[in-house]
Amino acid sequence: MKNNHRINLSLLPSTSEVTEDGQLFIGGVSVSEVVNEFGTPVFIYDETHIKSKLNEAKKVWGKNVAYGSKAFICKYLVKLIDQSGIRIDVSTGGELSHCILSGFDPSRIVFHGNNKSVLELTRAISYGVGTIVIDSIDELERIEKLAVLNVKSEPINTMLRLTPGIEAHTHEYVKTGQHDSKFGFSIFAETTKQAVNRILSNTALKLSGFHFHIGSQIFKLDGYLEAMKVVAEFIKYYDIEELVIGGGLGVPYLNSDSQISITDWAKYIKDAAKSCGIDSKVEITAEPGRSIVAAAAITVYTIGTIKKIDNIRTYVSVDGGMSDNPRPVLYSSGYEAFLPNKMNSIGNLICRVVGKHCESGDVLVNNANLPENIEVGDLLATPVTGAYGYSMASNYNKVPRPAVVFVEEGQTKEVIRRETLEDLIRLDL
Ligand code: LLP
Repeated sequence: MKNNHRINLSLLPSTSEVTEDGQLFIGGVSVSEVVNEFGTPVFIYDETHIKSKLNEAKKVWGKNVAYGSKAFICKYLVKLIDQSGIRIDVSTGGELSHCILSGFDPSRIVFHGNNKSVLELTRAISYGVGTIVIDSIDELERIEKLAVLNVKSEPINTMLRLTPGIEAHTHEYVKTGQHDSKFGFSIFAETTKQAVNRILSNTALKLSGFHFHIGSQIFKLDGYLEAMKVVAEFIKYYDIEELVIGGGLGVPYLNSDSQISITDWAKYIKDAAKSCGIDSKVEITAEPGRSIVAAAAITVYTIGTIKKIDNIRTYVSVDGGMSDNPRPVLYSSGYEAFLPNKMNSIGNLICRVVGKHCESGDVLVNNANLPENIEVGDLLATPVTGAYGYSMASNYNKVPRPAVVFVEEGQTKEVIRRETLEDLIRLDL
């Protein structure tokens, strides 16, 4: 693969190739071809990349590993997860229904959420969801009441989410393991043991294990070890089948970022469990989201306006923005930018890539390094947009959500169509 050194090719989907004349191909399809057929902005996902991450996760964690669907979900991805044989983690009734309507086996769904409603729980129980992860005393009370009415012969399978009281090294908004958190049962509260005992003494409920999740986009794995120490101390009194450590593995977004593989992450966690004396009969498993899909996709935009302000900076405006990628605005997340049709062009134009929304804060890349021959009409891409991009997309400023296209072996498959202007008004009465 040829490298023009502007974008580290390891940030791109795994089947990416650059031709002599600087055209990017993914899954054997040129980016231009996808754009000609589906327009911009468009999310292009490399199906081979996703399958290989799913396989890696299954290989190192086992088939009970669950894909964290909040990172990105659609019918077609549900089918790929189904074929891989692993589970899916959903965190709302909406994600749950999406997976059920896409034909996923309910017994392989793990249902999370810090405020599951009676309706969501009723549906989950009637679908026969494999595991409900109980997040609070209020939710336990709701489940106890519903369990009395449950007509199924099997008890409702549950896990309990523990908050271990440790701080993960990541952005404040995506930390979840600290005491001051809306999620889970504090491991040090007396009521947590009482909740466990209530589940254990209820024949309509089963407790298959415990869960904790310390945060997302984590590179310093020692936070997991700290959490594991505290959790091991708590769970040793209970006879459980599994301990789920949530998701959280960080992925590189920038040329300068380092990478930890899913395999090394699993090894670290399993070694940590061992060193904390967790019974080897307890299955240690996880819920990776970002690490499965983030690097599988790029977002491709068209450049519409280039504004040079003398002695200040150049703004490059594209036809999307904070509505298809709110992460820079929400978490100050950094991205790279490149021109998928001019991969080998030279020169360094340091510029700010912005969207088309009515906000100065609508920035996609603060200091992008683009070639000097950039022109209006060029395609511009940001890599590593496969997780928490489309899933967090909005219609702000009535901008329709992009199309999502999967590519593999020279074939394109539109898996989510572009929203139309009619779609934008469909809910209005
Ligand atoms: N399990 C639970 C209980 C979770 O809350 C999450 C993510 C995951 C698994 C998957 O974590 P991952 O492997 O993707 O880190 N919108 C933020 C990320 C929010 C993560 C929420 N929970 C972002 O764009 O960075």
